[in-house]
Amino acid sequence: MNEKKRIGIMTTGGDCSGLNTVIQRVVNAAAMRDWQVIGIRGGTDGLYAEPVDAIELTPENMPLEYARLSGSILRNGRDGTMNFEEAARQGILKEFNAKLNRALKELHLDTLILVGGNGSLSLAWGFKEIYAGVKLICIPKTIDMDVPMTDATIGFNTAVQQLTTFCDQVLLSARSHRRWFIVQAMGRDCGKLSLEAGIAAGAAAILIPEIKFNVDSLIEHIKNAPTDYGIVVVSEGISLRGHSGKAAEMIARQLNAAGIYCRPEYPEHFQRAGDTTATDRIIAASMADCAVRAIENNETYVMTAMQNGVCKTIALSEFFNRGDLVPDPHIPGIQTSNAYVTPDDPLLQVATDLGTYIGEVK
Ligand code: F6P
Repeated sequence: MNEKKRIGIMTTGGDCSGLNTVIQRVVNAAAMRDWQVIGIRGGTDGLYAEPVDAIELTPENMPLEYARLSGSILRNGRDGTMNFEEAARQGILKEFNAKLNRALKELHLDTLILVGGNGSLSLAWGFKEIYAGVKLICIPKTIDMDVPMTDATIGFNTAVQQLTTFCDQVLLSARSHRRWFIVQAMGRDCGKLSLEAGIAAGAAAILIPEIKFNVDSLIEHIKNAPTDYGIVVVSEGISLRGHSGKAAEMIARQLNAAGIYCRPEYPEHFQRAGDTTATDRIIAASMADCAVRAIENNETYVMTAMQNGVCKTIALSEFFNRGDLVPDPHIPGIQTSNAYVTPDDPLLQVATDLGTYIGEVK
């Protein structure tokens, strides 16, 4: 007989497609076990609010048809409100964290499911005092694919599909005008989204932060391309020595100066939208199931991770210690654990073999 539990769930960081799937699957799994689910709205915003902005979630108010929609029914927080960055700026992090802890205790939760990206997960590791007295299960979501220790994150596959669709659509215009579109992808410092969508869309070149590139080689590559139109995908995180501005703009300027007719394009938050792909729904369902089993096993401080096709829990310490640590630019003493495209990524070979310029790879 299952012990009756009361679990919380919140979505933090940037939104992406698949958040509603994971929420809906958790709600269903909980209902089967006669557990109660409390959704905290607006992430830490809602937890900081007085009273806490929370709602009981049931299969009636979180029905299946919401599960495919992008964004989060629970919302992800708002710019300009009190959050970790703002608390750090005002020098009141200790008080902020203590208030979040009090709010969680007042909700009387057995376990909180935190659906977040590498920033949120790193903060959860760095500020453990917030979760004192409640168990914590993290579920990784991000379109950036920069979370260490998992082969998949919720939202990435839909973002790849969205970006590919964007490239497919502008390609027709590129052909009509015999011009090149320099499409700037999101992803922060990780090039995985650019790499996957670039290959899917058949981009002539893909520039990512992890691989050095040479503008002259890029220009030569485009000039020698079999067509006088096409797509170049550039990650927002690339840099070009001696130049500033948006990545796509910097590259477009160089190509135009070399006589290649091109325009920068910005799909922006379109990449975070779109009905959740089947792949992302399967990842979300697997992670929801894994989280619920972890609750039954009384686990805490774990993250759900897809590894070789299986969803399992790993210690949050592993997520943190096995990633590339970078100091958080806004929060003193906090480091963010990151994953990047590694030199052994098989898609780098695919791109090279198929004649896509991806930088100065050996
Ligand atoms: O981390 C997700 C992400 O979409 C990044 O790819 C992008 O750099 C950033 O968030 C954009 O954030 P915002 O919506 O706050 O501008």
